[in-house]
Amino acid sequence: MLLELRAIEKRFGGVRALKSGNLNVEAGEVHLLMGENGAGKSTLMKIVAGLIQRDGGEMIWKGNPVNFARPAEASAMGIAMVHQESLLAPHLTVAENIFLGRELQSGMGMVNRKKMRDVAARLIEEHHFPLNADWAVERLSPAGKQLVEICRAIHNGSSLLIFDEPTSSLSESETGEVFKIVRTLRDRKMGVIYITHRLDELRSVGDKVTVLRDGETVHTEGMANITTDQIIHYMVGREVSAIYQREPVTPGEPMLEVRNLSSGKLLDKISFTVRAGEIVGLGGLVGAGRTELCKALFGVDPIDSGEVLVRGSAVRIGSPREAVAAGLALIPEDRGKAGLSRSLPISFNVTMASLEAVSKMGMVNKPAEVEVTNNAIKRLRIKCSGGTQLAGRLSGGNQQKVVISKWLARGAKIFLFDEPTRGIDVGAKVEVFEVMDELARSGAAILMVSSEMPELLQVADRILVMRQGKITGELPGRTTQQEIMRLAAFDKAPGVIQ
Ligand SMILES: Nc1ncnc2c1ncn2[C@@H]1O[C@H](COP(=O)(O)OP(=O)(O)OP(=O)(O)O)[C@@H](O)[C@H]1O
Ligand SMILES: [Mg+2]
Repeated sequence: MLLELRAIEKRFGGVRALKSGNLNVEAGEVHLLMGENGAGKSTLMKIVAGLIQRDGGEMIWKGNPVNFARPAEASAMGIAMVHQESLLAPHLTVAENIFLGRELQSGMGMVNRKKMRDVAARLIEEHHFPLNADWAVERLSPAGKQLVEICRAIHNGSSLLIFDEPTSSLSESETGEVFKIVRTLRDRKMGVIYITHRLDELRSVGDKVTVLRDGETVHTEGMANITTDQIIHYMVGREVSAIYQREPVTPGEPMLEVRNLSSGKLLDKISFTVRAGEIVGLGGLVGAGRTELCKALFGVDPIDSGEVLVRGSAVRIGSPREAVAAGLALIPEDRGKAGLSRSLPISFNVTMASLEAVSKMGMVNKPAEVEVTNNAIKRLRIKCSGGTQLAGRLSGGNQQKVVISKWLARGAKIFLFDEPTRGIDVGAKVEVFEVMDELARSGAAILMVSSEMPELLQVADRILVMRQGKITGELPGRTTQQEIMRLAAFDKAPGVIQ
């Protein structure tokens, strides 16, 4: 037995994040940790990794009771964690981040940069990651940062590795690499704890599963003895179907027309139309240019040539302000950087894109703000202590729901959803799809980027596929994953630089 957690408790002010966290992990076992957004998974793992301290309960490591006051203490015992939110140093390079806090020294006690660079480059090469040891981390996409976190953890030579949603921002091929890593670690008799919301991953990695609900461990079982539906049932404590299929609608007038749009080095003569009532999926591999397309359409990146028409009239989109004025909304991929003000309350985040709707004569009308916020909390079931809670204190998935709410409150007519369900639990995913469906039915046009092909098949009326900055084809909504892959596939791995 590597790790035993017994009745772990943790409070954050008035929030009881953990009431009784129990988990046993043996060497050579991959243990899945499942639960809805806000169930306490990350909190429990941060306690194991020494990032936060528990209020009660026991933690036993290789037979001895332990208390970690700092991450370095957990790390010295051989515990490493790949975090849900990136904890990397943005201004340093990939190699420097992999060795951060445990730099290699040369003879004179000097940091040996060349050696660190070489070791990092070999590690990246070995796992076929589309990274370069010299790139600055701040220029990486969320997927790139996640891969650096993974390199950092596997390099540590630990006996327990914790992955907190490692694949939520990764492409299929990168996900395959992560699975390979996990299996190698298991074969080397290390313990792995793996948190994921992707039900399709369960069987490919897990030996055992433990389910947390509302801060309590409700079930532990061998993977072979439990069905996915049973796991979902333990997670949500009610009947939820993971099966969603959107009913197609008859599309209305063209809302967004893009003609020959080129931007930066990547986007090359992109043309497509989204009509009122439609949800158009945008598939492709990480690095294909889908996020870049959303950013160009929203005025974040400059449009170098081409035309954008909204409801038939050409519009100038030179900044996000102009995009918003034209009726566009972007739900960005990287919620931390672009979508969320972590140090401000939920209510501020939800209403900041729609201030005119909650203001009277330039003053924010408190009751209106409270109402809009409470509606958002109810609609997407945001788990929080109330609208005044700071957004940064929410669990990962609940932060994503706040970002989505922000744009729903605004009532835009054209929505660009970039990986909207990343990190969102199974029940809430269907709720997000239903919200998108409602928006479309009320006349909005939606472009949805998703790396999870099953999701595109569930939701989209049509699917555009991108590869290397170009649209390589359009498929009907009821196509197959193989067809999407055929149009998306690369001959060489794409880079993950942003
Ligand atoms: N620093 C903090 N301050 C206040 N509350 C917090 C803090 N960190 C977590 N919480 C709360 O603790 C609860 C559990 O959060 P946690 O991040 O562990 O959930 P999770 O299971 O990892 O969810 P997700 O799937 O969304 O990542 C949530 O209600 C969250 O709002
Ligand atoms: Mg979490």
